[in-house]
Amino acid sequence: MSMTKKLLAIAATGAVLMSLAACASGDSSGAGAESTDAIAGDCNVGISMPTRSLERWINDGEQLQKQLKDAGCTVDLQYADNKTDQQISQIQNQVAGGAKILVVAAIDGEVLAPVLAEAKKQDATVIAYDRLIKGTEDVDYYATFDNYKVGQLQGQYIEEQLGLADGKGPFNLEPFAGSPDDNNAKFFFSGAWDVLLPYVESGQLVVPSGKAPASDDDWASIGIQGWASDKAQAEMDNRLSSFYTGDQKVNVVLSPNDSLAIGIIASLKSAGYTPGADYPLITGQDADKANVKAILDGEQSMTVWKDTRTLGDRVFTMVQEINAGEEVEVNDTKTYDNGKKVVPSYLLDPEVVVKDDVQTKLVDSGFVKASDVGL
Ligand code: BGC
Repeated sequence: MSMTKKLLAIAATGAVLMSLAACASGDSSGAGAESTDAIAGDCNVGISMPTRSLERWINDGEQLQKQLKDAGCTVDLQYADNKTDQQISQIQNQVAGGAKILVVAAIDGEVLAPVLAEAKKQDATVIAYDRLIKGTEDVDYYATFDNYKVGQLQGQYIEEQLGLADGKGPFNLEPFAGSPDDNNAKFFFSGAWDVLLPYVESGQLVVPSGKAPASDDDWASIGIQGWASDKAQAEMDNRLSSFYTGDQKVNVVLSPNDSLAIGIIASLKSAGYTPGADYPLITGQDADKANVKAILDGEQSMTVWKDTRTLGDRVFTMVQEINAGEEVEVNDTKTYDNGKKVVPSYLLDPEVVVKDDVQTKLVDSGFVKASDVGL
């Protein structure tokens, strides 16, 4: 296409200034998930993240904010200290401030219906980010990783490392689950427990604390409120001191994410466990820096890595599509029933990271800096 024709085409989209900027920077591709792409029209986005206390949400929020701002959007990014009231009032302010697209990672997936009803009165489009928003018609799309698969990867890792499919055992297992108010936690647990429960039933996995849900539906009985490291630590302290007497050792801990793993590792260390022989397998999720270090130091066995940059890219593409009045691409229209509707979803693929993958998967891709994890 000649430059003149290209300029005419751009002018026709109504996004003259932004697109000229894209041309000047050598980007003439038009649509797509690149952060340099401009977003047409009046783009006003409110991003609501749960907390700054976990590394992943800081990265998620800041990256998406930058991408959207670079594309010419007005963006308001808020963190809610893991407090639902705070999240609700922040979203109210965003709606009052004219946000036309809301990107919300809910603290409690059950309580946002009234505020989203207000947003809908202003024709806002709502994207549930990473966590499903439940009990409302007023959520339009859901972008996340395949949450069931996250748990399944943890369960399969344990199955393989212990040789459970070959009949090995018995091993002492202590399972944990995530925050009872987070819909993801149920999926993580089900994914793992569907692999592990048959081995609990066969006696190859023994749970000395007795904290072994009889089915997926009972997962919340071992949930750690707010995904708090200190609560996980206290729970593990309790289990170790009450149920591991004599020379009985824990062989494996199912931890649904990295923040719980941090507390569990601290508890194990204070009970005298040291990496090497007799140190249990511990799973995780997120590839937080402290946990990547723990993996390199032999204190944690694996983490399920969700490259949150790809989630940001996906949501960026959704915002582009919504603003351009195009159909929003999704790849799952069955799994995420929020009680009022099945929310059209885009699921991304999580993957396992163990010690040997840290350099190739996390450092080489730029997800973490070598110096941040002591490499
Ligand atoms: C996210 C995890 C995270 C956890 C705690 C979940 O909803 O999917 O990545 O570890 O919340 O913040």
